[in-house]
Amino acid sequence: MSETRAIPVNTPSRSYEVHVGRGLLASLGALVAAACPKVTHVALISDSNVAPLYAKPVEESLEEAGIAVTTLTFPAGEEHKRLSTLGDILERMANAGLTRSDAVVALGGGVTGDMAGLAAALYQRGIQVVQVPTSLLAMVDSSVGGKTAVDLEAGKNLAGAFLQPSLVVADIDCLATVSPGLLRDSCGEMIKHGVLADEKLFDELQAAPVCTPGFDPDKLVGIVARNVEIKRDVVDADEQERGRRQTLNLGHTIGHAIEAASDFTLGHGSCVAAGLCCVARASAQLGWCSPDVATRIVDCVRAYGLPTNTDIDHATLLEYAARDKKRRANSVTLVVPTRIGGVELRKVSLEELRHVIDLGCGE
Ligand code: GLY
Repeated sequence: MSETRAIPVNTPSRSYEVHVGRGLLASLGALVAAACPKVTHVALISDSNVAPLYAKPVEESLEEAGIAVTTLTFPAGEEHKRLSTLGDILERMANAGLTRSDAVVALGGGVTGDMAGLAAALYQRGIQVVQVPTSLLAMVDSSVGGKTAVDLEAGKNLAGAFLQPSLVVADIDCLATVSPGLLRDSCGEMIKHGVLADEKLFDELQAAPVCTPGFDPDKLVGIVARNVEIKRDVVDADEQERGRRQTLNLGHTIGHAIEAASDFTLGHGSCVAAGLCCVARASAQLGWCSPDVATRIVDCVRAYGLPTNTDIDHATLLEYAARDKKRRANSVTLVVPTRIGGVELRKVSLEELRHVIDLGCGE
């Protein structure tokens, strides 16, 4: 069995640890008691898919550590990441008598982490949150860094807040119940991290795709931990996305456009992977990176069976990319790979973005 990794995160608003290991749910209570010593009662927030799998061992572990638990579940699915569900959770937290010194424990994937995190940010003007991600995407991305949100009719994640967790516990054994398709999808964000900051990780991911059945969970501990370190380095330097944190949007300008134009029928990681390939191909043609960089990225994405392009027409892609909430006036900040392990931010006009889409997304 691999050792548990404890990765320190130090942002201006809070310092905390991300624990990555196996069998960690059983010791969650002790970890929460150590990280949040004043907490005597938690709202354990989970969805209707994850709660039946993991709520019981988590409740038992918390109670053994002397922490009372009120479990609040909501129906699974992005369509429930809404103000109405959030309002319901907040009412139930108040009815359960949670105080300002209590905490939320978010048990689940990205939807749960985002919504439970926002509930913690709002309840009594802010209480602590512990993130317990059970999906690969949540482990390597959304549980770290303090972004919380719900969706509005007008778009995804449009109502939210920054609230750094007090602790993150990623139990790799939870991935045993994640479908192979969802695991594969999550790898889009891991490939992105390799391109962004670590050629060694990129090569490791390409050499042995981690979504293959029977992949060694002990090895996955190290890979997830490395992904967390990459995100940590960015978030420590720029907690509120004023500059460097924007580099985490690599592949997202076109990726988000693909995701929205396909009405969210394609997974987020798959869209990021396709967006990454498109921006890499365009970057190679514009001389922003060597052709070899684009070829390596496309080959790696292909090795995972993730999409390397899109057949959505370019006018539609541009329309959705231009709606991006990160757009400023008539320009967007595009993240472009300069090498495997390095990126730069380029402010491009909508006209230049059109050209990037034309070059990167093929015919
Ligand atoms: N998922 C990108 C970020 O947390 O900034």
